[in-house]
Amino acid sequence: MINERVLNILNSQINKEFYSAYLYLAMSAYFDEKGLFGFSDWMKVQAREEMDHGMILFDYIIERDGVVNLTSIDAPEKTFECPLQVFEKAYEHEKYVTSSINEVALLSDNECDLATRHFINWYISEQVEEEANVLDVIKKLKLFGDECTSLYHLDKEMGERTYAQHTYKE
Ligand code: FEO
Repeated sequence: MINERVLNILNSQINKEFYSAYLYLAMSAYFDEKGLFGFSDWMKVQAREEMDHGMILFDYIIERDGVVNLTSIDAPEKTFECPLQVFEKAYEHEKYVTSSINEVALLSDNECDLATRHFINWYISEQVEEEANVLDVIKKLKLFGDECTSLYHLDKEMGERTYAQHTYKE
């Protein structure tokens, strides 16, 4: 049976992962409105990965004989100014998720829950990738700007991202 404090923080992390999916879907909708369908698809792939992150936590809790507690998901921000601002907000959000994952690791250590401490390593590595992916887009948007031709080409490149289901035991 999993420690209650660890269980609570894992359930809270499920909510954060599904909120992340909501946020990225809101960003996807913004890009659809602007006709930037490649950016929109990139965000949809991101949202699906976030749902995977939530489900991996869900399955882990069940495996540890814990109780999954699904709570309300906040409405995401939906008003954005420009593509660069969207990705800057995504970057801020990912840094927040990283700090949240770090808290899970620290609590697992403090509670001597070595199984969860080991499990959460997957997320620690994943967050390095998550932040880097968003930062990569920010750099390109800063370098090439929001000018039409650049955006057109970048939009095509962004649309090439494909979804592959994230699993913990891969
Ligand atoms: Fe699941 Fe983007 O953190």
